[in-house]
Amino acid sequence: MKAIIPAAGFGTRLRPLTFARPKPTLRVANQPIIVHAVRSLYQAGVTEIAVVVSDLTQQAVEQAVSGIEGVCISYIDQPEMLGLGNAVLMAREWVGQDDFCVYLGDNLFENGVGSYIDVFNETGADSVMALVSVPDPSAFGVAELDERGRVVRLVEKPTNPVSNLAVAGLYCFRPAFFEHLAALTLSARGEYEITDAILSLMERGGHVQGVRVQGWWRDTGQAADLIDANRLLLERLEDSILGEVHNSHLTGRVVVELGATVRNSTIMGPVTIAPGAVVENAYLGPFTSVGRGSVIQNAEVECSVIDEYAQVRDVAVRLHGCLIGVRARVVGHGTVPRVHRLILSDASTVELGC
Ligand code: UTP
Repeated sequence: MKAIIPAAGFGTRLRPLTFARPKPTLRVANQPIIVHAVRSLYQAGVTEIAVVVSDLTQQAVEQAVSGIEGVCISYIDQPEMLGLGNAVLMAREWVGQDDFCVYLGDNLFENGVGSYIDVFNETGADSVMALVSVPDPSAFGVAELDERGRVVRLVEKPTNPVSNLAVAGLYCFRPAFFEHLAALTLSARGEYEITDAILSLMERGGHVQGVRVQGWWRDTGQAADLIDANRLLLERLEDSILGEVHNSHLTGRVVVELGATVRNSTIMGPVTIAPGAVVENAYLGPFTSVGRGSVIQNAEVECSVIDEYAQVRDVAVRLHGCLIGVRARVVGHGTVPRVHRLILSDASTVELGC
């Protein structure tokens, strides 16, 4: 079994964070989203992985996944962003005659992907799709299953959904699936849709098995999803203090990595602090990740993702639910501000009070 991770898109819905780096390389719980995906595949026994990239994403994606032990990663170019069906088709030669799974580069599964691959192998199905129960499935591909769990209907973004089972970002296929991808025509939104190729497989009598997602699943398409994914990943953090901690009060599960420093601070886990980060005269509340080399000084932060080499200094109000990008700075004067000076790039958001 090989795996394809499509990661050629930049993630326009996550601007401005994705002006500088593609969505699969944004960090949650101090790790790029795509690294969580590669690790899940490795844990499921899949070690041959092709990441589909574009000119714009290749460098950042390669940097994010380089050095992960135990896997062999190839990069495949998708010259034009023509949709998921096209991204997967680009890997046809690389896959050859092997079975393969497709794991969307911005998805996270609490319990990994092993169970879907097991069902694929055990049932001998032509395809397996991960399906998740959602309250409002109308924004997703929606599947209807028969009593044996076979997909009998699949509708993209239906106005009247036939079930609450939305298509999540993990599929398994036999190599013959490429014939359906190669025969695709452009959809109304101008993309080659993987859903259309699966429908074509079903129309020709193919056995598509639905497997319900156990545990949580997140598609990190938007800012709130990143904060939420960070929270869910930190829920299973195990405490470990390898860095320096002086005159501070730590409660709950806290990770202070080697090379990080915490001084005169209160930390309520789950919180993770990466190497090189400095937390001083600060309060860090639950579900906060502090990235490598970042500084939190004279400030209070909770339920937030602070990426690498960022700074939060002398801020007299508590920051909650924030995404602070690489090298971004939030600087106050230590007093409750009556005046704000903002220098914001395109598509930035500042919410004053919440
Ligand atoms: P998305 O549609 O969620 O990602 O595709 P996007 O296009 O980057 O994000 P938005 O819609 O502009 O905000 C899911 C995954 O499939 C990849 C994306 O990189 C993402 O990891 N993808 C999508 C490709 O590799 N190629 C494509 O043509 C489309």
